[in-house]
Amino acid sequence: MSVADNSQKPPHKPQASNNKSTPKHNRNADTKRKLYRETMENVRKQVRIESPTPPPPTATATTAASSPSQSDNIASTTESTPDLMELPRKRFYRQRAHSNPFSDHRLDYPTSPDSMDWSTIYPALTNTQDNNEKKKVEIADIGCGFGGLMIDLGPQFPQSLILGMEIRVQVTQYVEDRILALQKLHESDPVYKYDNIGVIRGNAMKFLPNFFHKSQLAKMFFCFPDPHFKQRKHKARIITHTLLSEYAYVLKEGGIIYTITDVEDLHNWMVTHLEQHPLFERLSKEWEAQDKCVEIMYNATEEGQKVERNKGSKFVACFKRLPNPDDCE
Ligand SMILES: C[S@@+](CC[C@H](N)C(=O)[O-])C[C@H]1O[C@@H](n2cnc3c(N)ncnc32)[C@H](O)[C@@H]1O
Repeated sequence: MSVADNSQKPPHKPQASNNKSTPKHNRNADTKRKLYRETMENVRKQVRIESPTPPPPTATATTAASSPSQSDNIASTTESTPDLMELPRKRFYRQRAHSNPFSDHRLDYPTSPDSMDWSTIYPALTNTQDNNEKKKVEIADIGCGFGGLMIDLGPQFPQSLILGMEIRVQVTQYVEDRILALQKLHESDPVYKYDNIGVIRGNAMKFLPNFFHKSQLAKMFFCFPDPHFKQRKHKARIITHTLLSEYAYVLKEGGIIYTITDVEDLHNWMVTHLEQHPLFERLSKEWEAQDKCVEIMYNATEEGQKVERNKGSKFVACFKRLPNPDDCE
């Protein structure tokens, strides 16, 4: 069962579009984007209904590619008629860079972790098992953006379910379509089929304990979180003392929080808050150097690749979840 988080304010009235002042080519582009996204929405619905056997492709793709820049180059039959084998094109999912984590998004969330139906996200891995044996998500990418981290982590942890949580609607839809396309392209791959990665739209600052049981997660990633530079906006940062207590609740003992950012001030903020929290302990640079997830996190995310292109710095810090004081001797 899920409930919608729209309790506080009435939804904003949509702005009347002023067609007279909008250039014609902009209107055409908007229509194209809308048509593309509507078609993809139908594809998603169809896949959900027909899972675990997704519908046959409507055309054949020539190659599998896991980066959006490569996918942008894959030609489709026509601009706004996508097919399931084609990796989605980012330009059809444009959305404002920032989303206010305190505003009233219409978000669906389960009333408790047990009422969440994970089979809609991982049909291949959950449909075949009975309820008691169902696999649980173990790795969470918080604010997953366009999903690059999960796509590289997936094959490294084929036995674990990996979940991206993203607050922006169209970015979440892009990741969903990207995963569906990869699953279709790798359907007959005997080794790996991208069926252990999934995404949900959610506000990680509000409802994590609704999705995850106590001590469920082994790893949580915070890659290039929004910096919220101004001091009065610091409360919107995704690492705060209160939120760390929630992250500690869903992480198992020995579980890891991974952080990376190109903003040194935010790095210092995250390190200070994590160091001050009694349930976390920083891992050494030697530990970071031997951990394969650190390397993936450093290279795989879209934001990290942008930093690389702009020759920026990347600051990494990893922390281990300590035992609860009650569990210590
Ligand atoms: C700068 S982007 C980084 C994306 C990705 N991790 C990467 O490295 O490419 C930060 C992302 O976090 C998402 N985000 C911000 N606050 C969030 C929240 N409270 N819950 C879930 N996602 C959030 C944003 O929408 C955005 O996509």
